[in-house]
Amino acid sequence: MSESKKKAGILGAGGFTGIELLSILSKHEYIEVVYATSSEYKGRKVTNVMPYLESSSLDNLEFSKHPESAADLPKLDLIFLAAPDEVSIKFTPLFLKENIKVIDISGAFRISDDNIFESYYGLKRNDKETLEKAVYGIPEINREKIKSARLIANPGCYPTATIAPLWFMKDFLKEIKTPIFIDAKSGTSGAGGRKEKDTLPFSGVHENFRAYKVGMHQHEPEISQEVQKFLNNAEINFTPHLLPLFRGIQSAAYFGAEITTSPDEIKEIIKEKIKDEPFIRMYSSPNDIELKNVQNTNFLDFSFHYDEKKKIMTIISSIDNLQKGAAGQAVQNMNLLFNFQEAEALY
Ligand SMILES: NC(=O)c1ccc[n+]([C@@H]2O[C@H](COP(=O)([O-])OP(=O)(O)OC[C@H]3O[C@@H](n4cnc5c(N)ncnc54)[C@H](OP(=O)(O)O)[C@@H]3O)[C@@H](O)[C@H]2O)c1
Repeated sequence: MSESKKKAGILGAGGFTGIELLSILSKHEYIEVVYATSSEYKGRKVTNVMPYLESSSLDNLEFSKHPESAADLPKLDLIFLAAPDEVSIKFTPLFLKENIKVIDISGAFRISDDNIFESYYGLKRNDKETLEKAVYGIPEINREKIKSARLIANPGCYPTATIAPLWFMKDFLKEIKTPIFIDAKSGTSGAGGRKEKDTLPFSGVHENFRAYKVGMHQHEPEISQEVQKFLNNAEINFTPHLLPLFRGIQSAAYFGAEITTSPDEIKEIIKEKIKDEPFIRMYSSPNDIELKNVQNTNFLDFSFHYDEKKKIMTIISSIDNLQKGAAGQAVQNMNLLFNFQEAEALY
């Protein structure tokens, strides 16, 4: 392996997002994955658990057990945390102290208010020093800050699908007259991890459709916090639903608003603005936004319809929750951090 490669680790490499990270990083020209933890798979070769990665750069990597302290880690330039929130709360300050950059895929450092965090996550944080280091990792919005960050709070999947389109639309929204109602649907991998809950197995979702965590999903305050940074006083009402499929999120955001110019002109201006964005695609019609165009990719697709009579905006967007909503975006952030091509390993 080349000396110039950066050394990366993954805590929680045996879960949905960890496995996705391994797949993406196996194609990365400038990263060597030297540490991947899973107590479930410890001692097994990665290619034994993921046979489709045979003959890749991960051929010799074995899963290790989860660490008890930072001393259990080999020398790393960066670690991805793809584990439960409480694990990130415990380990992030320890890894930062060892000068290891951290990309945290959990929700541990996304919400800046400790009380709001505690009420949605049921966890105490009390770590201002670490929290202050966290940069919210939507590259299309925070690209420059991400480049010099030591800790990236990788956004949630629903927040990614909804915040980025609103950000590209923000300059054209003159007055928002109602809450922004976000009606979003996710495949089961976005709603629970590898170890299935009672309601998530095939028999619980097949031929079925339902809302979940109504009025109490932890992504509502995350979306509110980030959207209010560019749309003053915007209220968010968020309702997630469970789709009978494994991966992908489709979101519809509806709200009453005045717009500054015609919908066709808005689309033309946004298309021009995003022409160098590697992963953002704007479509002419919201009817063209569908999961099959984004599944297994790092793309975010969106479009909108504006009802001129009722003055109601409807934005439809789609992502793959495990890629742009988690591991793909985490690698995009890492590429920025290390000054690699932003899309390296992601096409
Ligand atoms: N799924 C998504 O679409 C998505 C999107 C954005 C963010 N996230 C966030 O990403 C994180 C992982 O989600 P996931 O869907 O990949 O979950 P998952 O499939 O349940 O995987 C969780 C991973 O964490 C590991 N783990 C459990 N307890 C641990 C501990 N005490 N110390 C270290 N590692 C531990 C597990 O280890 P074993 O392998 O030993 O079981 C497993 O590898 C969560 O915080 C989640 O909120 C998920």
